[in-house]
Amino acid sequence: MSIALIILAAGKGTRMKSDLPKVLHEVAGAPMLVHAMKSAQDLEPEKTIVVAGHGAEAVGAAASAYDETAEVVLQTEQLGTAHAVAQAKEALRDFDGDAIVLYGDTPFISPATLQAMCDARAAHDVIVLGFVAHDPGRYGRLVMQGKSLSKIVEFKDASDEERAITLCNSGVICAKASVLFDLVDAVGNDNASGEYYLTDIVEIAQAKGLSATSVTCDESETLGVNSRAQLAEADAIFQAKARLELMEAGITMHAPDTVYLSHDTYIGPDTVIEPNVVFGPEVTVENGATIRAFSHLEGCHVSRGAVVGPYARLRPGTELAEFTRVGNFVEIKNAVIDEGAKVNHLSYIGDAHVGPRANIGAGTITCNYDGVMKHHTEIGADSFIGSNTLLVAPVSVGANAMTGSGTVVTKDVPDEALAIARTPQVNKAGLAVKLFDILKKKKFLKTKGAV
Ligand code: UD1
Ligand code: CA
Repeated sequence: MSIALIILAAGKGTRMKSDLPKVLHEVAGAPMLVHAMKSAQDLEPEKTIVVAGHGAEAVGAAASAYDETAEVVLQTEQLGTAHAVAQAKEALRDFDGDAIVLYGDTPFISPATLQAMCDARAAHDVIVLGFVAHDPGRYGRLVMQGKSLSKIVEFKDASDEERAITLCNSGVICAKASVLFDLVDAVGNDNASGEYYLTDIVEIAQAKGLSATSVTCDESETLGVNSRAQLAEADAIFQAKARLELMEAGITMHAPDTVYLSHDTYIGPDTVIEPNVVFGPEVTVENGATIRAFSHLEGCHVSRGAVVGPYARLRPGTELAEFTRVGNFVEIKNAVIDEGAKVNHLSYIGDAHVGPRANIGAGTITCNYDGVMKHHTEIGADSFIGSNTLLVAPVSVGANAMTGSGTVVTKDVPDEALAIARTPQVNKAGLAVKLFDILKKKKFLKTKGAV
């Protein structure tokens, strides 16, 4: 059965107090909207329709950045969830499969839950995802009769008896697309909020002789985000789960609670993550690497056996080959560090290629930016870059070459050459003692107020 997703994402999210549309606020480095899209990825949806309103342009851009086939439809006025779904009708006119309605601000519905809903379609026309709420609050309530879902009542419209029900509506619904749109067309807005409620389709379906039922999931999956505090809570839930999954996959974490992961962080088995490490988006770390304390990584690839940190910063475009070493207070950006090379202390390596086994001395800087453009630095295999070398790009240092400490390299260094560019040293006999005397006398006169 082919699947279409309809993701409701038109709401403003007033309680976020933000200029950014709510669904674009990030959990673990990805917009909530993308989490919702990802949860349905395993179903291989043929179509994805995002219903946008507030900040529609930005919402559309985020949706297509994740899935370029995603279509955005506009809901200019937010008249309710049924009205929102109706906006997808035109885009799915020729679509013959099932539609699943998701909310862009509900990031944790699991792929298994969505699969269970699809499976339940074999026996029922309308499937609603329910959950038993710890505190049912203002959620819509699912009124069941045995296995049949008779209706959903919104809290505002519910009787005391209905409010006592703890089986609540998550908002996720699955039905054949054409049936869903027929049902939605029949929804009115005669209720306590004056809104077109998607939840009304259940009663309408029953009246038409169609069958409806609920599938349930754990409450943690249905967590919706309405405020910054709930956003932080969602992130914490994501982190706890992701850390556990990593440890189960063979990764050691000394203090897992202090490690921050992104939605797409990949780490291979037997890698050790020390405390207080941040993984920004698009990081892969292969097997048996060590990421030492207080390191910050984003957009980079760390190969087997590499050691990074403590206090290292790997920025986008960093590629560390096997058994490389990047030590404390080193920043690397858009650079390939070949196998066995070392950048151990206090360096900036940007827009560069460092050949295999090269040793980059403490304080080495690639001067990659001239104020207008960025330039490349090439460092050869087995070379030795002396401490405090400045490599003024574009420039290259050959294989087996050396630079003297403090050298400012402005011209290419051939293979096997030693480059030194600094003022030659002069030693003046006895001058230090004379200088001390002069300075001490000056200080004495100054404290006496004579100068
Ligand atoms: C909805 C359900 C309620 C359920 C709850 C779960 C209805 C009528 N009620 O209530 O049964 O328990 O979700 O969280 O469906 N949206 C649009 N356009 C609109 C209206 C809403 O895109 O015109 C989007 C919102 O941005 C949001 C989602 O749909 O992502 C849900 O809307 P919201 O107003 O939060 O619904 P609730 O009142 O919470
Ligand atoms: Ca809500």
